[in-house]
Amino acid sequence: MINPAAAERFLMCSPEHFEVSYVINPWMAGNVVDRALAAQQWTALATLLGAVATVEHINGAAGIPDMVFTANAGVVLGTACVLSRFRVAERQGEEVHFERWFTSHGFDVLTLPRDLHFEGAGDALLDRYQSLLWLGYGHRSDPACAPIVADWLGIETQPLRLVNDRFYHLDTCFCPLAGGYLLYYPAAFDIVSQAVIESRVPAGHRIVVTDVDAFAFACNAVNCGRHLFLNKASPTLVDQLHGYGFEVTQTPLTEYLKSGGSAKCLTLKVTETSNERAALCA
Ligand code: ARG
Repeated sequence: MINPAAAERFLMCSPEHFEVSYVINPWMAGNVVDRALAAQQWTALATLLGAVATVEHINGAAGIPDMVFTANAGVVLGTACVLSRFRVAERQGEEVHFERWFTSHGFDVLTLPRDLHFEGAGDALLDRYQSLLWLGYGHRSDPACAPIVADWLGIETQPLRLVNDRFYHLDTCFCPLAGGYLLYYPAAFDIVSQAVIESRVPAGHRIVVTDVDAFAFACNAVNCGRHLFLNKASPTLVDQLHGYGFEVTQTPLTEYLKSGGSAKCLTLKVTETSNERAALCA
């Protein structure tokens, strides 16, 4: 799905090895994946995204089923990539595959010490207006990564503490959007972090989601210019997003919700700059 007209590129991992074979977050307990449906849902997302961006592929590998969630490969800024250091043993086998992909695609790969945990763009999200990298911690990534990543990528990092184990990665509850908007679920953060978010994003740019939308992974949206791709959003949220100039496409990702992931987790934007003031016009 190379779309030569599209400037933005996203990495996705084919899902043939995807399954729920262990439990590392509360969404995964007791779930069995319908593999055929998972393949169909993944292809639908890749096709939608492929119409507005270039989708790059990495092959999955047997025995590491969560590799399909490429958001966790690392975080990219320019040609630099800070590779993930997964907290759980179940996912550590992915690191070598992602490292190989980044290296062979011209990225300068930076690796953290083994004992520091960092789960890439699952927990590290660039603001789309300010030159700022938001960093979630409390479940998977260590807050001690913040100064190191800031130094390596040459960008301010703002740590945010996650307190609800259903929202264990920052991208499950927080989505910076083009134009400086922010789609997020405040209850996933501690009080201090909620105040930090309010102090750094003006009220008119904060789009707060309800419990129902948050639990349907509405914050786990892929944003490319004015396009937003997500599992599901309430009519109220869709209207609100339209009002801010976004086109919302809902594409069911039920099989990935069984693993605690959705649209954004299945993608990694590999064309990243420190802010995108003009991105809403795409
Ligand atoms: N089962 C995976 C895990 O618990 C899901 C990862 C979802 N990825 C994300 N970026 N939120 O690690």
